[in-house]
Amino acid sequence: MPQKEPAALVTGGRQGIGRAIADRLARDGWRVVVADREPPQDSGTFPHRFVKADVGEEAAVRQLIGDIAEREGRLDGLVCNAGFMIRKPIEDLSLDEWNAVIATNLTSTFLLARGAAGLLRQTRGAILTIASTRAHQSEPHTESYAASKGGLLALTHALAVSLGPLIRVNCISPGWIDTRGGPLSEEDHAQHPAGRVGRPEDVAGLAAWLLGPESGFVTGAEFLTDGGMTRKMIYAE
Ligand SMILES: NC(=O)c1ccc[n+]([C@@H]2O[C@H](COP(=O)([O-])OP(=O)(O)OC[C@H]3O[C@@H](n4cnc5c(N)ncnc54)[C@H](O)[C@@H]3O)[C@@H](O)[C@H]2O)c1
Repeated sequence: MPQKEPAALVTGGRQGIGRAIADRLARDGWRVVVADREPPQDSGTFPHRFVKADVGEEAAVRQLIGDIAEREGRLDGLVCNAGFMIRKPIEDLSLDEWNAVIATNLTSTFLLARGAAGLLRQTRGAILTIASTRAHQSEPHTESYAASKGGLLALTHALAVSLGPLIRVNCISPGWIDTRGGPLSEEDHAQHPAGRVGRPEDVAGLAAWLLGPESGFVTGAEFLTDGGMTRKMIYAE
């Protein structure tokens, strides 16, 4: 028997943005499964069902989705949030490092969407990908990360077109989100048109809306939560 409340899977949700999304969804009445390759630091009190899994690995994703089908009996929201960056000059970046970033940040969403499509169709569910403003603009030495996030944007609209109308697929591209509690300077905040650096809750509120019924006419879209930074024109003095 499927459980009564809607179920969400949040990858990379043991901390940071994923944790804020998981906590927000739980407050909104969702049952939340968090999959992460590292255990939560507060494992004794962690409030969500935790599954240790590397979502860049095909077998691990197959097992994860099978486990949700068995335990929750339904899936209404899939949040593909797990991601990391390697910042290295291109001449020093190994192929293994490139492949590791692409596997976690991009291939995982292919594996998760493919595995979960059947469950999500049954609930008319939604997929949310977490890309980055770095899909649009770069600092030096971030090629693998930028490429993975640009790919994720394209994968988002491709999935929206293929999986609609039963499944909606959208993307949030965060800018600078302070997940560690600073330290932040006045300049850090002031450079943002919104007047401050972002917080995980800024992303979580939008995520909750995109997974919920009020966004029923929204699919294939990207939402930037960056305090306006990608709209700011900067010339050297
Ligand atoms: N924090 C920011 O400023 C910012 C900005 C733009 C985009 N993002 C994106 O938001 C997402 C979350 O970022 P965050 O800052 O909270 O990061 P974080 O490092 O605090 O958390 C990421 C989590 O993902 C997990 N993870 C990494 N690889 C994994 C894998 N292969 N399988 C399972 N779990 C894995 C990590 O263990 C970690 O718990 C990432 O995709 C990141 O690229 C973050």
